This record gives sequence, structure tokens and C-alpha cells, in this order.
Amino acid sequence: MKLLILGCGGQVGWELQRALAPLGDVTALDFDSADYCGDFSQPEAVAQTVRTLRPDVIVNSAAHTAVDKAESEADFARLLNATTPGAVAQVAKEIGALLVHYSTDYVFDGSGDSARDESAQTAPLSVYGQTKLEGELLVQQSGCRHLIFRTSWVYAARGGNFAKTMLKLASEREALKIINDQIGAPTGADLLADVTAHAIRQALANPALFGLYHCVAGGETSWYDYARFVFDQARQAGRELKVQEVSPIPTSAYPTPAARPLNSRLDTTKLQQAFGLTLPHWQKGVARMLIEIL
Ligand SMILES: NC(=O)c1ccc[n+]([C@@H]2O[C@H](COP(=O)([O-])OP(=O)(O)OC[C@H]3O[C@@H](n4cnc5c(N)ncnc54)[C@H](OP(=O)(O)O)[C@@H]3O)[C@@H](O)[C@H]2O)c1
Repeated sequence: MKLLILGCGGQVGWELQRALAPLGDVTALDFDSADYCGDFSQPEAVAQTVRTLRPDVIVNSAAHTAVDKAESEADFARLLNATTPGAVAQVAKEIGALLVHYSTDYVFDGSGDSARDESAQTAPLSVYGQTKLEGELLVQQSGCRHLIFRTSWVYAARGGNFAKTMLKLASEREALKIINDQIGAPTGADLLADVTAHAIRQALANPALFGLYHCVAGGETSWYDYARFVFDQARQAGRELKVQEVSPIPTSAYPTPAARPLNSRLDTTKLQQAFGLTLPHWQKGVARMLIEIL
């Protein structure tokens, strides 16, 4: 089986290179790859790459993920998050490939306090959320065989993430204020990549499994409690932190260019039942990542 990973240098893309390796012959491309174009600012060229390579499975983890920056460069965000995934989906349809694509809890407005399932009404608050939703729709409307995984609060040992930023700030400052009214589930790129590998194998054998799924780690937390968990783990591991006072603040006290949903809870029942998988509690994955980086 031939597999193509797009956006291979990102958090999820990096883990996909590991997790998909046992499935077959993997070609992994990023925006600056030399042999084939993987630059999502060039939809036609990326489409041509897919036509040339004719993979059985395309996994797209490339995206414009700079949520605040997207507010001031909406056209560019749309190119990366919607137009090019749409062009890739068209070629997937032409050549009969399975396309795996990732989306986000930011397609929702975050109202209420219950977990949303895949049938919940979308209503993005930001350019990032809007363009990711457009990407989902283009993949679905292309008619290609697809798996779309909506996830949230992604972290990985490699690259920058919230936990690393918090550890840096906690070693520099005595007091930190952290948002406590956005609720979600930190989800490891390694977990997403492993779920992707299982899902590809099962969906290829059972086409009834193609479709849209919510895929996040178990449990829920706020950024504030997530940060406190990181500090506790770091101190237990012997890391000295300068921070003495960690205070909760509401989102309204920390204005950003892009609005974020307060309720990022996603219901993963459909994924767990369809694929017979268990999504572990978020603390397990974060603790493991911290052991790697501390
Ligand atoms: N990160 C999150 O918290 C989060 C939450 C929900 C959903 N998701 C979704 O999960 C998926 C994977 O996200 P991630 O966390 O792995 O994001 P990431 O680490 O930002 O990776 C995105 C990848 O896209 C690449 N990219 C940027 N511009 C590109 C271009 N012009 N052409 C091709 N590739 C380009 C990035 O390259 P550079 O690193 O060199 O810019 C990076 O390799 C995305 O679909 C994202 O929307 C992420």
C-alpha cells in the first residue's frame, strides 16, 4: 500500500511518519519538500503531486494553525485550510484514494456546557474555525472516500506547545494568570496518529466506517488546571520553578484577535464504538510527554 503524508513536519505529521510506517510505503512531504510540491499555498501543484504519486491513502496534516494570525490573513488561511484540501480531495476522488483530514473543535461556537457530537450545529467564531469548516465541507462534497477527525488542544513532545510555554513562563515569573473558563481536552499528536493508523486499516476493510469523527483524549480540563497539572508534574520530576502564584482569569480578561470557544468538549462515542478504540485520559498523555521533555 502507498501512503502520502502532507504537512509531515507538524506535530501530527511528525507522529504520522512513525505510526503509518508499518502500513506500507510512506512518502512524507512538507511545504518545502524538494522532490514533489507539498506547499499548500499552491493548490494545483499539490494536486499534481497526488496525481503523480497515486497513493492509496493520503493523510493531510498540513494546515494554517496560527489562530490569531489567521484573523489578519484570511485568504491565506483559506488557501491552506480549505482550497488546497479541496483540490487534494478532488484528486483523491479521481484516483480512488482514501483521504484522511483533520479538523477542529473551533468549528463550534462553544456555547453551553455539554459535549458536542458530530451532528451538532457548527458556528465558527474565528477565521481559523471558518476556514477549517470550509475544508471539511470541500472534502465531503468531493465524494472521495474520507475520514475527518475533529480534535482539540493538540500537543507533542516535538515543537512548541502550551505545556512548554507554561514551563518557560513558570521558570521566569513568580506570578501567572491563566484562563480557566475555556474547557477542553489536551490531545497528543501521538494518540491522533495511532488512532489514524488503526482507523485507516479498519475503514479500508469496512467502507461503512468512512466519515466524520470527533477524536480527543478522555476527560476535560481548563487551561488553568492543565497548567497546574504541568507545574505539579514538573516539580515532582525535580524541576525548579520560580512561579509561586497561579491565578485563574476569565477569557474576557485576556483579549486576543481571534475569539475562542469556551466549551470545546467533544463527544467521542461514535469513534470509540465504530473502531473499538479507547481514548485514554488526557493526563496520561501529557504526563508521558512531560517525561520526554523535562
Ligand atoms: N494544534 C492544535 O491545537 C489543533 C487543534 C485542533 C485541530 N488541529 C488540526 O490538526 C491538524 C494538525 O495540526 P498540528 O497541531 O500538527 O499543526 P502544526 O504543528 O501547526 O502543523 C501544521 C503543518 O502544516 C505546515 N504548513 C504550514 N504552512 C504550510 C504550507 N504552505 N504548505 C504545507 N504545509 C504547511 C506546517 O509547517 P510549519 O510548521 O513549517 O509552518 C506544519 O508542518 C490540522 O489540521 C489542525 O487544524 C490542531
